[in-house]
Amino acid sequence: MKVYVPRDSAAVSVGADEVAERITASAKAIGRDVEVVRTGSRGMLWLEPLVEIETPQGRIGYGPIAPEQVDGLIAAGMLDGAGESLGLVEDLDWMRRQQRLTFARVGLIDPRSADEYEQHGGMQGLRKALTMTPAEVVEEVTNSGLRGRGGAGFPTGIKWRTVLGADADLKFVCCNADEGDSGTFADRMLIEGDPFVLIEGMTIAAYAVGATEGYVYLRSEYPDAVEALAKAIEAARAKGWLGEDIAGSKLTFDLHVRVGAGAYICGEETSMLESLEGKRGTVRAKPPIPALEGLFGRPTVVNNVLSLASVPTILANGAEAYASYGTGRSLGTSVFQLGGNIARGGIVETAFGITLGELVNDLGGGTASGRPVRAVQVGGPLGAYLPVKQFDLPMDYEAFAAAGAMVGHGGIVVFDESVDMAAMARFAMAFCAEESCGKCTPCRVGAIRGVETIDRIRAGEDRSKNLVLLDDLCELMTDGSLCAMGGLTPMPVRSAVRHFGEDFSA
Ligand code: NAI
Ligand code: SF4
Repeated sequence: MKVYVPRDSAAVSVGADEVAERITASAKAIGRDVEVVRTGSRGMLWLEPLVEIETPQGRIGYGPIAPEQVDGLIAAGMLDGAGESLGLVEDLDWMRRQQRLTFARVGLIDPRSADEYEQHGGMQGLRKALTMTPAEVVEEVTNSGLRGRGGAGFPTGIKWRTVLGADADLKFVCCNADEGDSGTFADRMLIEGDPFVLIEGMTIAAYAVGATEGYVYLRSEYPDAVEALAKAIEAARAKGWLGEDIAGSKLTFDLHVRVGAGAYICGEETSMLESLEGKRGTVRAKPPIPALEGLFGRPTVVNNVLSLASVPTILANGAEAYASYGTGRSLGTSVFQLGGNIARGGIVETAFGITLGELVNDLGGGTASGRPVRAVQVGGPLGAYLPVKQFDLPMDYEAFAAAGAMVGHGGIVVFDESVDMAAMARFAMAFCAEESCGKCTPCRVGAIRGVETIDRIRAGEDRSKNLVLLDDLCELMTDGSLCAMGGLTPMPVRSAVRHFGEDFSA
């Protein structure tokens, strides 16, 4: 019989390895033959370590489990799905409210097994793509409405069309896995839980645009993801899914992992390309866009992990099926990440259009502290702070932009009423000062002046004059910065002043 225990680093950080060892030892002690399969996480992080038992009805969940509870649970019949359980995992409200397309296999399969990947629908997208022309694949991705999940929301198919149309001896596909936004962890969980889907997505991209080499730029803070992906690439090569004559076709494509060194700005696509070329990560001026002159000056697809990992399901099930989810111009599903002061933190993949309030209150259960929610920051450290009165905002790129906010990479960080929003605005400027690549003055100098100005406001020095100065500075940074780092830092600052102005008095 099979018992599933996550190997995801979030689960391991709260004892999943010890729980897995204890289950093996305890089952052996009572003469039960048990195979412990290590999976990714289902994304219900408050239930980790979550153990699942295979039964004829489906997988029964137990969690969170401490290693010292294992013997007692097994004595109470856990291995037969008996005793105090959470019930069928698929029936849990958290799971039922989702539409898992990109994360369909995460938490379900052994991420080290290429065979399991294939048994659960893997490789269908690539096989389908190989029956089409590259232009048809690009068309399919365009028709699906898929937009860049890294944050900017640029249509993926249009980006690919630009690379396909570029004439060059060599083209690249680069995956941006430098998930630097605070409160985001979907890229990591995808790579740790289902690395083959990223490999398949990148291979489809390579076929669609005519690339032969791919790189995944993965942050050093994710050592388990680096290991998971390296092992998956090895297994994919052994299966003939990478290299020459992929899946019996004439396609040649190989993939390499490059590990970043901790600079936030290397998540900006041109800095990432500089870093991949072995240089210091500083931002390049655009144009030229990477689609035309990217890695080593060649046409390059640069996409986020989730954008690329969404492609296999689009090809396998058709653009129309994907586009049937979502709302307006935000089609398909997105993977939202609930974190900060929240009762139930984790991953929720659902169609665009779900409201912020549904995510934070219904799925997340409000704050962990039990105090009222006061603010949420959506879209990472460069995203806006929103008050509870905006909880009816649908998760939709355009609706958020109209509200002076951004969906970004889908991270949602919750704060309760004890938060000092002036301190959070100061943090945004301080973060920018720390992480600025230094190339342009509005960001390099502006962020430091921003910290000083907010300090003066908090100290009660000429409050109204300094608030005007802060607003001027924000305008200058928004309009004059070369990239999103300096250009978007004003978003959290201005939203904090706008919605929580009372915190900016002395
Ligand atoms: P952008 O809007 O300049 O570009 C978006 C993408 O579209 C880029 O890949 C660009 O090269 C491509 N593109 C633009 N025009 C094109 C064309 N005509 N043909 C082909 N490709 C084209 O945005 P940028 O600066 O790349 O990203 C900013 C966003 O990054 C922010 O909105 C923020 O949400 C997000 N972000 C995400 C972080 C994370 O950890 N995931 C961290 C920080 C920011
Ligand atoms: Fe560098 Fe900041 Fe200018 Fe971006 S905005 S190029 S991070 S100095």
